[in-house]
Formats: sequence, structure tokens, C-alpha cells
Amino acid sequence: MFDTMTVTKVGGAVCGSLLVLLLGNFAAEGLYHTGAPSHGGEEAAQAYVIDTGAAEGGDAAAADAGPDFGTVFAAADAAAGEKVFGKCKACHKTDGNNATGPHLDGVVGRPVASAAGFGYSDGMKAHGGDWTPEALQEFLANPKGVVSGTKMAFAGLPKVEDRANLIKYLESLGG
Ligand code: HEC
Repeated sequence: MFDTMTVTKVGGAVCGSLLVLLLGNFAAEGLYHTGAPSHGGEEAAQAYVIDTGAAEGGDAAAADAGPDFGTVFAAADAAAGEKVFGKCKACHKTDGNNATGPHLDGVVGRPVASAAGFGYSDGMKAHGGDWTPEALQEFLANPKGVVSGTKMAFAGLPKVEDRANLIKYLESLGG
């Protein structure tokens, strides 16, 4: 059997190595984190464009895009969307309170950048319009590509089904 001292020592060793790992992580974050551009929010210009010929092959491009959003949204499932919303919860609440991001209850149909008391980026304020399901799905596919200078640090939802289900869920929350 282990005596109490052994257990304490092993426990101490485990805690110690966890702490080292954690500190290492912080240090790495500090070293490599690029963060948002602090100067005016200008995105770096694209250095060059590779011509894939996609512009000429209109039909091929359309075929690649898969089912269009409207079709998928018509059959969307709010319950599945609630699961997708797990990816947003770290920053967004649905109880009327702003957090890292603005509250998302009632966001479907809401004017862009209009949650009272939330400090939006200039990019988001300049985006304009309303969050129609179509506008939302475009934004959620590629947040930084659609709203340049946004401070929403989220890579996007590549699957159209995920976007449709999620927006259905958000719609079900009302406002
Ligand atoms: C890391 C934190 C973070 C995550 C994760 C995140 N967001 Fe955001 N979101 C933000 C911030 C910050 C803003 C404000 C952006 C700005 O002002 O540029 C924002 C803005 C928005 C807006 C605009 C709202 C308005 O009032 O105009 C929508 C819609 C949105 N997020 C939806 C989502 C959804 C849906 C997800 C999950 C798929 C998600 N966000 C994930 C931080 C986040």
C-alpha cells in the first residue's frame, strides 16, 4: 500500500508538471500569438492571385458549391443547430446579456451591430443591413472574409447544413 507521504509526493509531482505545461503554454501564446492588427485594422493585402480558371468555368464553379443555402435552410433542424451553437457559447449568450460577443437572442432579422451596450468593431458597424438568414450564413461561413476588421475571432462554419441548422435555432429563440 502507498503511505500518505508517497501519495502527497506523487500528487505534488503531477501538479508541478501540470503547472509547467500551463506556463509553457502561456509563454508560447505570448510568443506566437499574432492577434488582431492593432493599427487601423487594415488586412494585409493579398500578394498575388492564382488563376484557377474558375471565373471562366461558371458551370463547374456552381457544381462545386453544392446545395444552395435556401434549399438546406428550408429543411433545417433547430435541435441540431442548438448543438452547433456549442461553438459560439464561449462568446455569445442568448439571455439578452452581452459577453465577449453581443447577445444573439433575436439576432435573426436584427440590424447589424445593434445590440445595445456592445462595443462593435468599426468593420462591423460599417457592414450595415439586417441579419437576414442569408446575411448570417454568409458571415458565418467566413467571418473575417465577409466583415473585414471584425473582432469576432472565429474561423467559420464550412458546412452549409451546420449554418442552416444553427440559424434555424437562433430564429427559434426569438428576441
Ligand atoms: C471567440 C469569441 C467568438 C466566438 C467563438 C463566436 N463569436 Fe460571434 N462575435 C464575437 C464578437 C467579439 C463579435 C463582435 C464583432 C465585431 O464587432 O466586429 C461577434 C459578432 C457576431 C455577430 C454579429 C451580431 C450583431 O449584433 O451584429 C453574429 C451574428 C455572431 N457573432 C454569431 C456567431 C455565431 C453564430 C457563432 C458560432 C458559430 C459565433 N458568433 C462565435 C465573438 C465570437
